Amino acid sequence: MIGIEDVRAAEERIRGRVRRTPVLRAGAQTFFKLEYAQHAGSFKTRGMMNQILASGPAPAAGIVVASGGNAGLAAAYAARELGIPAAVFVPETAPPVKVAKLGKLGAQVTQVGSEYAEAHAAAVVHAERTGARFCHAYDDPGMVAGNGTLGLELLDDLEFDTVLVAVGGGGLAAGVAAALAGPAESADAGKGAGGSAGAGESVGGSAGAGGDAGAGGSAGAGESVGGSAGAGGDAGAGGSAGAGKSAGGSAGAEGSAGAGAGTGARVTAGGKRVVAVEPENCPTLSRALAAGEPVDVAVSGVAADSLGARRIGLLPYQIAVLTEMRSLLVDDAAIVEARRRLWDDYRIVVEHGTAAAYAALTSGVYRPAEGERVVVLLCGANTNPGDLA
Ligand SMILES: Cc1ncc(COP(=O)(O)O)c(C=O)c1O
Repeated sequence: MIGIEDVRAAEERIRGRVRRTPVLRAGAQTFFKLEYAQHAGSFKTRGMMNQILASGPAPAAGIVVASGGNAGLAAAYAARELGIPAAVFVPETAPPVKVAKLGKLGAQVTQVGSEYAEAHAAAVVHAERTGARFCHAYDDPGMVAGNGTLGLELLDDLEFDTVLVAVGGGGLAAGVAAALAGPAESADAGKGAGGSAGAGESVGGSAGAGGDAGAGGSAGAGESVGGSAGAGGDAGAGGSAGAGKSAGGSAGAEGSAGAGAGTGARVTAGGKRVVAVEPENCPTLSRALAAGEPVDVAVSGVAADSLGARRIGLLPYQIAVLTEMRSLLVDDAAIVEARRRLWDDYRIVVEHGTAAAYAALTSGVYRPAEGERVVVLLCGANTNPGDLA
């Protein structure tokens, strides 16, 4: 599991290699985090840089990545900066603007299949054949922690209550949630055998779910994650295994029901919350939350090139459950309209996957409470602006 300490370690590891991105006050209670100004055009550069650096010296064959486009761009950028070769597998449907930029960054680009999952399969084969190190686009602790560093910047830069985050494979939302997570403040966590320390460690601590917290921590984590007996009982003495199990699905319905209805509500630091936003056509997180485990979904629509993972990553899913993340769905028309409004009202150009987060506000799918301060993460701009002019 990933916690605030991992995010802080990532921040140190990648310092000087990524941009600290600014925040724009977009309205009385609305803020935009301008992460699309990141190197290579998206937040993925934070996660990829951290993943590569954290995994030690690269093999001679370098790294290989599967991507809808942005993780590949991030990998190509990071590899170029670090002086290692990068092979990037993208679907044949990847936007020309992303493919062209990949070539410019010096990556060896292969287009295969019609969606991310097929590029992923080809990249894994490439890794086995060449000895290149496979770097995951979202389901990797280094990736999640690196992405979370933008959450630390938010905490430094402004007062806010809620962050709206677009979700594909879930590595971004999970990283931000890990950055914002603090000690659990729920009744259950307090009552758990491990007390709030055990529970706190499982969400916010770098030891992650349990770690050396031992049986006490594990029980605390189990109860507060799963709510009811299912997850807690299952957790037994294995802190991380317990939380992992209840969140990851082997506890199945129990884990999921507990997470949804359990009395052990997780409260992130200062009450700050990540709200996930997904296209109706790529609902990886909401389907996983409903099923109690990551499941395959059909992906299509205007944002599929960035949010078109077929299944939420297991680690992001676990963090989403632990932090009681909500997921909202927006339709393609709302995404197109939000992207248009970012251009018309702010002269900001982003890709559709990014506009999804804003669409939750503009479509009214997310209605902030009175006085609630909302940050919209604008996290990628590898797009052709031609249709906005
Ligand atoms: C611009 C943009 N926003 C959001 C996401 C979603 O990130 P994640 O796959 O970590 O959920 C992606 C993923 O590629 C992206 O490119």
